[in-house]
Amino acid sequence: MEMMLLWKLIILLPFMNCNTEEDTLHGPIFTQEPYDITYSMGSADPEILLNCTAKGYPLPYYRWKQNGTDIDLTMSYHYRLVGGSLAINNPHKKQDIGTYQCLATNSFGTILSRKAKLQFAYLENFETKTRSTVSVREGQGVVLLCGPPSHYGDLSYAWIFNNNPLYVQEDSRRFVSQETGNLYIAKVEPSDVGNYTCIVANTKAEQRVQGPPTPLLLRNDDRSEAQLEC
Ligand SMILES: *[C@@H]1O[C@H](CO)[C@@H](O)[C@H](O)[C@H]1NC(C)=O
Ligand SMILES: *[C@@H]1O[C@H](CO)[C@@H](O)[C@H](O)[C@H]1NC(C)=O
Ligand SMILES: *[C@@H]1O[C@H](CO)[C@@H](O)[C@H](O)[C@H]1NC(C)=O
Repeated sequence: MEMMLLWKLIILLPFMNCNTEEDTLHGPIFTQEPYDITYSMGSADPEILLNCTAKGYPLPYYRWKQNGTDIDLTMSYHYRLVGGSLAINNPHKKQDIGTYQCLATNSFGTILSRKAKLQFAYLENFETKTRSTVSVREGQGVVLLCGPPSHYGDLSYAWIFNNNPLYVQEDSRRFVSQETGNLYIAKVEPSDVGNYTCIVANTKAEQRVQGPPTPLLLRNDDRSEAQLEC
Protein backbone atom coordinates (compact mmCIF):
# COMPACT_ATOMS: atom_id res chain seq x y z
CA MET A 1 0.00 0.00 0.00
CA GLU A 2 2.70 2.46 0.94
CA MET A 3 4.72 1.29 -1.99
CA MET A 4 1.88 2.18 -4.38
CA LEU A 5 1.70 5.73 -3.02
CA LEU A 6 5.39 6.20 -3.44
CA TRP A 7 5.18 5.05 -7.05
CA LYS A 8 2.37 7.48 -7.74
CA LEU A 9 4.43 10.31 -6.31
CA ILE A 10 7.44 9.42 -8.41
CA ILE A 11 5.28 9.37 -11.52
CA LEU A 12 3.32 12.54 -10.72
CA LEU A 13 6.10 14.76 -9.37
CA PRO A 14 7.71 15.64 -12.71
CA PHE A 15 4.28 16.69 -14.04
CA MET A 16 3.62 18.88 -11.03
CA ASN A 17 6.92 20.66 -11.56
CA CYS A 18 5.83 21.48 -15.10
CA ASN A 19 2.83 23.38 -13.80
CA THR A 20 2.92 27.14 -14.35
CA GLU A 21 2.95 29.72 -11.60
CA GLU A 22 -0.74 30.46 -12.10
CA ASP A 23 -1.69 27.06 -10.83
CA THR A 24 0.06 27.41 -7.51
CA LEU A 25 -2.30 28.65 -4.88
CA HIS A 26 -1.98 32.39 -4.29
CA GLY A 27 -3.97 35.47 -3.46
CA PRO A 28 -5.28 37.87 -6.14
CA ILE A 29 -2.89 40.32 -7.85
CA PHE A 30 -4.11 43.03 -10.24
CA THR A 31 -2.88 42.82 -13.80
CA GLN A 32 -5.12 45.69 -14.94
CA GLU A 33 -6.63 48.47 -12.84
CA PRO A 34 -9.26 51.05 -13.78
CA TYR A 35 -8.15 54.46 -15.07
CA ASP A 36 -9.83 57.85 -14.91
CA ILE A 37 -12.35 58.29 -17.71
CA THR A 38 -14.07 61.35 -19.10
CA TYR A 39 -17.21 60.26 -20.91
CA SER A 40 -18.59 62.50 -23.60
CA MET A 41 -22.30 63.32 -23.36
CA GLY A 42 -22.31 63.67 -27.15
CA SER A 43 -20.73 60.24 -27.56
CA ALA A 44 -22.33 57.62 -29.79
CA ASP A 45 -20.92 54.88 -27.55
CA PRO A 46 -23.67 53.93 -25.07
CA GLU A 47 -21.32 52.11 -22.70
CA ILE A 48 -18.42 52.96 -20.40
CA LEU A 49 -15.88 50.27 -19.55
CA LEU A 50 -13.86 50.52 -16.35
CA ASN A 51 -11.09 47.96 -16.63
CA CYS A 52 -10.12 45.46 -13.97
CA THR A 53 -8.34 42.12 -14.19
CA ALA A 54 -6.62 40.10 -11.50
CA LYS A 55 -4.76 36.81 -11.47
CA GLY A 56 -5.01 34.41 -8.59
CA TYR A 57 -5.60 30.79 -7.78
CA PRO A 58 -8.34 29.93 -7.03
CA LEU A 59 -9.63 32.33 -9.71
CA PRO A 60 -10.76 35.60 -8.14
CA TYR A 61 -14.27 36.97 -8.35
CA TYR A 62 -14.98 40.69 -8.65
CA ARG A 63 -17.00 43.42 -7.01
CA TRP A 64 -17.09 47.18 -7.54
CA LYS A 65 -17.58 50.20 -5.34
CA GLN A 66 -18.84 53.63 -6.33
CA ASN A 67 -17.90 56.40 -3.88
CA GLY A 68 -16.99 53.66 -1.39
CA THR A 69 -20.38 51.92 -1.57
CA ASP A 70 -20.88 48.45 -3.06
CA ILE A 71 -22.58 48.42 -6.45
CA ASP A 72 -25.39 45.88 -6.75
CA LEU A 73 -24.49 44.08 -9.96
CA THR A 74 -27.12 41.36 -9.74
CA MET A 75 -30.42 43.17 -10.28
CA SER A 76 -29.41 45.73 -12.84
CA TYR A 77 -29.47 46.32 -16.59
CA HIS A 78 -27.32 49.35 -15.93
CA TYR A 79 -24.19 47.39 -15.00
CA ARG A 80 -22.51 44.34 -16.50
CA LEU A 81 -19.32 42.54 -15.50
CA VAL A 82 -17.02 41.79 -18.43
CA GLY A 83 -14.42 39.56 -16.83
CA GLY A 84 -13.56 41.81 -13.92
CA SER A 85 -14.28 45.03 -15.81
CA LEU A 86 -17.37 47.09 -15.11
CA ALA A 87 -19.51 48.07 -18.09
CA ILE A 88 -21.96 50.92 -17.44
CA ASN A 89 -24.81 50.96 -19.91
CA ASN A 90 -26.48 54.26 -20.88
CA PRO A 91 -24.39 56.41 -18.52
CA HIS A 92 -26.08 59.26 -16.68
CA LYS A 93 -24.09 62.17 -15.33
CA LYS A 94 -26.05 62.54 -12.09
CA GLN A 95 -26.12 58.86 -11.21
CA ASP A 96 -22.74 57.62 -12.47
CA ILE A 97 -20.30 60.45 -11.79
CA GLY A 98 -17.90 59.55 -9.01
CA THR A 99 -14.98 57.41 -7.90
CA TYR A 100 -14.81 53.70 -8.70
CA GLN A 101 -12.78 50.87 -7.20
CA CYS A 102 -12.55 47.22 -8.18
CA LEU A 103 -12.28 44.43 -5.59
CA ALA A 104 -10.89 41.01 -6.42
CA THR A 105 -11.40 38.16 -3.94
CA ASN A 106 -10.40 34.55 -3.59
CA SER A 107 -9.94 32.22 -0.60
CA PHE A 108 -6.72 34.05 0.34
CA GLY A 109 -8.40 37.41 0.65
CA THR A 110 -9.50 40.59 -1.12
CA ILE A 111 -7.50 43.30 -2.87
CA LEU A 112 -8.76 46.81 -3.59
CA SER A 113 -7.78 48.63 -6.79
CA ARG A 114 -6.74 52.24 -7.27
CA LYS A 115 -9.51 54.85 -7.40
CA ALA A 116 -10.68 55.73 -10.90
CA LYS A 117 -12.63 58.94 -11.43
CA LEU A 118 -15.50 58.94 -13.88
CA GLN A 119 -16.27 62.41 -15.23
CA PHE A 120 -18.73 63.58 -17.85
CA ALA A 121 -17.80 66.11 -20.51
CA TYR A 122 -20.92 68.17 -21.19
CA LEU A 123 -22.14 71.56 -22.28
CA GLU A 124 -25.57 72.84 -21.28
CA ASN A 125 -27.64 75.35 -23.18
CA PHE A 126 -27.48 79.06 -22.38
CA GLU A 127 -29.90 79.86 -19.58
CA THR A 128 -30.70 83.41 -20.56
CA LYS A 129 -33.04 83.86 -23.50
CA THR A 130 -32.39 87.56 -24.14
CA ARG A 131 -29.54 90.01 -23.71
CA SER A 132 -29.94 93.71 -23.07
CA THR A 133 -28.73 96.17 -25.67
CA VAL A 134 -25.19 97.47 -25.34
CA SER A 135 -24.67 101.04 -26.47
CA VAL A 136 -21.32 102.62 -27.17
CA ARG A 137 -20.03 105.93 -28.50
CA GLU A 138 -18.49 105.87 -31.94
CA GLY A 139 -14.70 105.55 -31.69
CA GLN A 140 -14.80 103.96 -28.24
CA GLY A 141 -14.19 100.36 -27.23
CA VAL A 142 -16.75 97.82 -26.03
CA VAL A 143 -16.80 94.33 -24.48
CA LEU A 144 -19.61 91.92 -25.32
CA LEU A 145 -19.95 89.20 -22.67
CA CYS A 146 -20.40 85.59 -23.70
CA GLY A 147 -21.24 84.10 -20.27
CA PRO A 148 -20.87 80.42 -21.25
CA PRO A 149 -23.33 77.90 -19.79
CA SER A 150 -22.50 75.18 -17.25
CA HIS A 151 -20.00 72.68 -18.66
CA TYR A 152 -17.14 70.23 -18.04
CA GLY A 153 -14.26 70.13 -20.53
CA ASP A 154 -12.38 72.88 -22.33
CA LEU A 155 -14.39 75.40 -24.36
CA SER A 156 -13.61 77.34 -27.50
CA TYR A 157 -15.43 80.49 -28.56
CA ALA A 158 -16.49 82.29 -31.70
CA TRP A 159 -19.00 85.02 -32.51
CA ILE A 160 -21.39 85.61 -35.35
CA PHE A 161 -22.62 89.01 -36.50
CA ASN A 162 -26.26 89.41 -37.62
CA ASN A 163 -27.08 86.43 -39.82
CA ASN A 164 -23.64 86.24 -41.34
CA PRO A 165 -22.75 82.56 -41.55
CA LEU A 166 -19.06 83.42 -41.10
CA TYR A 167 -17.54 83.99 -37.68
CA VAL A 168 -16.46 87.49 -36.71
CA GLN A 169 -12.85 87.65 -37.90
CA GLU A 170 -10.28 88.86 -35.43
CA ASP A 171 -8.27 91.83 -36.65
CA SER A 172 -6.63 94.99 -35.25
CA ARG A 173 -10.01 96.08 -33.84
CA ARG A 174 -11.64 92.79 -32.87
CA PHE A 175 -10.52 90.13 -30.38
CA VAL A 176 -12.22 87.04 -28.97
CA SER A 177 -10.88 85.89 -25.59
CA GLN A 178 -10.51 82.10 -25.51
CA GLU A 179 -10.43 82.40 -21.69
CA THR A 180 -13.82 84.05 -21.16
CA GLY A 181 -15.41 83.99 -24.60
CA ASN A 182 -15.86 87.79 -24.50
CA LEU A 183 -15.66 89.80 -27.70
CA TYR A 184 -13.63 93.03 -27.59
CA ILE A 185 -14.23 95.68 -30.24
CA ALA A 186 -11.99 98.76 -30.33
CA LYS A 187 -12.83 102.10 -32.02
CA VAL A 188 -16.44 101.20 -32.76
CA GLU A 189 -17.69 102.20 -36.22
CA PRO A 190 -21.27 102.60 -37.47
CA SER A 191 -20.85 99.37 -39.46
CA ASP A 192 -20.38 97.46 -36.18
CA VAL A 193 -24.02 98.08 -35.20
CA GLY A 194 -26.09 94.88 -35.17
CA ASN A 195 -26.61 91.63 -33.28
CA TYR A 196 -23.73 89.60 -31.89
CA THR A 197 -24.10 85.93 -30.92
CA CYS A 198 -21.57 83.87 -28.98
CA ILE A 199 -20.96 80.30 -30.18
CA VAL A 200 -19.49 77.92 -27.59
CA ALA A 201 -17.97 74.55 -28.46
CA ASN A 202 -16.83 71.74 -26.15
CA THR A 203 -14.67 69.41 -28.23
CA LYS A 204 -14.49 66.69 -25.58
CA ALA A 205 -18.27 66.65 -25.19
CA GLU A 206 -18.74 66.95 -28.96
CA GLN A 207 -21.32 69.66 -28.29
CA ARG A 208 -21.87 73.18 -29.59
CA VAL A 209 -24.38 75.77 -28.39
CA GLN A 210 -25.36 79.27 -29.40
CA GLY A 211 -26.14 82.12 -27.04
CA PRO A 212 -28.89 84.73 -27.29
CA PRO A 213 -27.96 87.72 -29.50
CA THR A 214 -26.67 90.94 -27.95
CA PRO A 215 -27.72 94.06 -29.90
CA LEU A 216 -25.01 96.71 -30.24
CA LEU A 217 -26.09 100.32 -30.78
CA LEU A 218 -24.26 103.61 -31.20
CA ARG A 219 -24.98 106.01 -28.38
CA ASN A 220 -26.14 109.50 -29.23
CA ASP A 221 -23.25 111.55 -27.80
CA ASP A 222 -24.79 115.03 -28.01
CA ARG A 223 -27.83 114.21 -25.92
CA SER A 224 -25.98 112.55 -23.04
CA GLU A 225 -23.46 115.38 -22.87
CA ALA A 226 -26.24 117.96 -22.94
CA GLN A 227 -27.90 116.17 -20.04
CA LEU A 228 -24.65 116.07 -18.06
CA GLU A 229 -24.20 119.82 -18.48
CA CYS A 230 -27.59 120.63 -16.92
C1 LIG B 1 -9.43 48.59 -21.12
O1 LIG B 1 -8.94 47.36 -21.59
C2 LIG B 1 -9.07 47.19 -22.99
C3 LIG B 1 -8.62 45.77 -23.31
O2 LIG B 1 -7.44 45.44 -22.66
C4 LIG B 1 -8.23 48.25 -23.69
O3 LIG B 1 -8.37 48.14 -25.08
C5 LIG B 1 -8.70 49.62 -23.25
O4 LIG B 1 -7.89 50.62 -23.81
C6 LIG B 1 -8.69 49.74 -21.75
N1 LIG B 1 -9.32 51.02 -21.39
C7 LIG B 1 -8.79 51.85 -20.49
C8 LIG B 1 -9.56 53.10 -20.24
O5 LIG B 1 -7.75 51.62 -19.90
C1 LIG C 1 -20.30 60.26 -5.94
O1 LIG C 1 -19.43 61.33 -5.64
C2 LIG C 1 -19.51 62.43 -6.55
C3 LIG C 1 -18.41 63.42 -6.20
O2 LIG C 1 -18.41 63.71 -4.84
C4 LIG C 1 -20.92 63.02 -6.45
O3 LIG C 1 -21.04 64.12 -7.32
C5 LIG C 1 -21.92 61.94 -6.84
O4 LIG C 1 -23.24 62.43 -6.72
C6 LIG C 1 -21.76 60.70 -5.97
N1 LIG C 1 -22.62 59.66 -6.51
C7 LIG C 1 -23.37 58.86 -5.76
C8 LIG C 1 -24.22 57.88 -6.46
O5 LIG C 1 -23.35 58.93 -4.53
C1 LIG D 1 -31.26 92.28 -34.23
O1 LIG D 1 -32.20 91.45 -33.59
C2 LIG D 1 -33.45 92.06 -33.40
C3 LIG D 1 -34.30 91.13 -32.57
O2 LIG D 1 -34.18 89.83 -33.01
C4 LIG D 1 -34.07 92.43 -34.73
O3 LIG D 1 -35.30 93.06 -34.53
C5 LIG D 1 -33.11 93.33 -35.48
O4 LIG D 1 -33.63 93.58 -36.78
C6 LIG D 1 -31.75 92.72 -35.59
N1 LIG D 1 -30.83 93.65 -36.19
C7 LIG D 1 -30.08 93.39 -37.25
C8 LIG D 1 -29.18 94.46 -37.74
O5 LIG D 1 -30.10 92.28 -37.79
